Amino acid sequence: MSEPEILGESLPFDERIELSGWKHASVSADDYKAYLAKSLADPEASWAAVAKELHWFRHWDSVLSRDIYPHVYHWFEGGLLNLSYLALDRHASSWRRNKVALIWEGEPTDEKGGPREVRKITYGEMLRDVNRIASVLQRKFGLRKGDRMAVYMPLIPEAIMTLLAAARLGVTFTVVFSGFSAESLASRVADLEAKVIVTADGTYRRGKTVLFKEIVDKALEQTPSVKNVVLIRRLGVPCPMKEGRDYFLDELVSELPARATVEPEKVESGHPLYVLYTSGTTGKPKGIIHDTGGYATLLHATMKWVFDIRDDDVYWCPADIGWVTGHSYVAFGPLIEGATVVIFEGALDFPQPDRWWAIVERYGVSIFYTTPTATRAQMKFGEEPVRKHDLSSLRVIQSVGEPINPSAWRWLFTLVGNSSCPVGSTWWMTETGGVMVSSLPGLQLIPMKPGSNGLPIPGVKADIVDENGASVAPGKKGFLVIETPWPGMPGPPTGMYGDPERFEKQYYSRFPGKDYFFCGDYAVKDMDGYIWVAGRADEVLKVAGHRLGTYEIESAIVSHRAASEAAVVAIPDAIKGEVPIAFVVLRQGHEPDENLRKEVRKWVRESFSPIAEPAQVFFVNKLPKTRSGKIMRRLLRAVAEGKPLGDVATLEDETSVSEAKKAYEELGVK
Ligand code: WTA
Repeated sequence: MSEPEILGESLPFDERIELSGWKHASVSADDYKAYLAKSLADPEASWAAVAKELHWFRHWDSVLSRDIYPHVYHWFEGGLLNLSYLALDRHASSWRRNKVALIWEGEPTDEKGGPREVRKITYGEMLRDVNRIASVLQRKFGLRKGDRMAVYMPLIPEAIMTLLAAARLGVTFTVVFSGFSAESLASRVADLEAKVIVTADGTYRRGKTVLFKEIVDKALEQTPSVKNVVLIRRLGVPCPMKEGRDYFLDELVSELPARATVEPEKVESGHPLYVLYTSGTTGKPKGIIHDTGGYATLLHATMKWVFDIRDDDVYWCPADIGWVTGHSYVAFGPLIEGATVVIFEGALDFPQPDRWWAIVERYGVSIFYTTPTATRAQMKFGEEPVRKHDLSSLRVIQSVGEPINPSAWRWLFTLVGNSSCPVGSTWWMTETGGVMVSSLPGLQLIPMKPGSNGLPIPGVKADIVDENGASVAPGKKGFLVIETPWPGMPGPPTGMYGDPERFEKQYYSRFPGKDYFFCGDYAVKDMDGYIWVAGRADEVLKVAGHRLGTYEIESAIVSHRAASEAAVVAIPDAIKGEVPIAFVVLRQGHEPDENLRKEVRKWVRESFSPIAEPAQVFFVNKLPKTRSGKIMRRLLRAVAEGKPLGDVATLEDETSVSEAKKAYEELGVK
């Protein structure tokens, strides 16, 4: 394997940055080592101690137990709880009742550049509104525990309220990212057999309105399970409505009694809170199931350890609720902790590059959870947009979604955090439910290393292993694995919705004889045990931190009338980390030209998602394949990166590679 690096920057294993002024850690350095050792000696006991800090209607009988499938575990079996109770009722019946839970800023700005719309919602108000949405879902549409619903919404307070309303009823939900097309929405809704879709009339994106209802209506043609659609008015525009099926939420709420409440359903710890579809290497997206009790425990632990969350914090993570970060660290984690959470509808550099810094200053954001792509995009604008604002409220900065190159880390640390905030890179994935490897300013801040993820969190055993599952030496690249179960892992009954076999094969079959969870990431461990995740080791792409499968983009391309075959690979990109490029074989009767190239890109944008649009399309006569017909994407990647091809013994026809090379060299990637 090649030398580990992030975006061409080598990894500074020896650099150790201390933050001597950091006083917030709750345990001392010596205690920390003991704490870690104890948690690893008995992970179950250490997780149970965390879980005890939550509110349970009934205590569990066992901390960790197995079900019929080998790697689908029950955490806290016998325990009863409710996530909306944890996030709302507990706070609304305490001094936090009148504390602001959500600060929402809409995208449009006024003449002076200030926001046109800001809403501040207290815990008391939020509980009232969540009760109303839950009442509508229960009384009008008959949803109850065990039913499924889908959410296709922009980032407005009602989106988060809807998730909490579902959790209140024990209704398992799936959120579909609102940048996905009708086809993507339909396939997820159909897989889950959702009964209701909750959506909005639209949203603002970069100054334009985006309408949702037509997209939802198109998806509904393929989703017979859906009986009703609930619309939230964001724009106040007219929508096509089908009598008896589609309703506006505000109209339904006005029919409720003034005080409409729903008792939070006491669900078992293993009850599926949500299913989130994420991209894998093959086939349709995988529906990852997250339970309630284990998941809440992991969120509670990581909000404290990773973010050092306190009552006087203003927390902001600009992730959309369509991704797992928006679930764990926007909608649920910070509210479980009773924090004040900022949410923002728009793009971080719209209408001016300094929009996100203006938001930090306006609300006094103290904890900021960002991404490497957003950071690199900001770096392009220079220091002025940052320096224009008073960012002294910031005290913790974390990053997520993809490896952070050391220079982007330094920019966050020195310029944004004024060399006085811990800056970290939290490694985790949709499947893990919450952060697994990270610096822990809330527990003990050990020396930071620019670009490193740090150590596994207490209670998590992770390692870097070779092809055979044996530990590799420090400094050597290998595969990141999690060695033991953790709360928040894919949950009962099947880990992956409707497909326990695929779950087992995907995550637990890579190293026979070992119970290792295979993440699919390359990583390296240094001499201090710090982990540096360097990128995906499979056919999964991270474009601007968004997870996409090569297979999904290829399927979108070959559904175009002119395309017969396609191979998509990722190439490094200075801002987005990586971007897809596509090699396409045309059907007979179609000639390769610039128009067709543009058309294929547009097709992917519209039929799948704008984030998946290939940066370039290369037309070729054949794709490099093995003799058994498997596309050798690795060779296309080598061609694009100008690297040696490596082993080509299984390649069927060498001219396919020279052709790809010629096409790439002629056109390049702009
Ligand atoms: C990548 C996002 C390096 C990794 C929460 C993982 C990271 C995939 C980091 C999961 C990080 C996430 N450093 N790589 N701090 N965080 N990744 O499911 O490749 O959208 O496997 O979850 O993102 O992506 P997902």
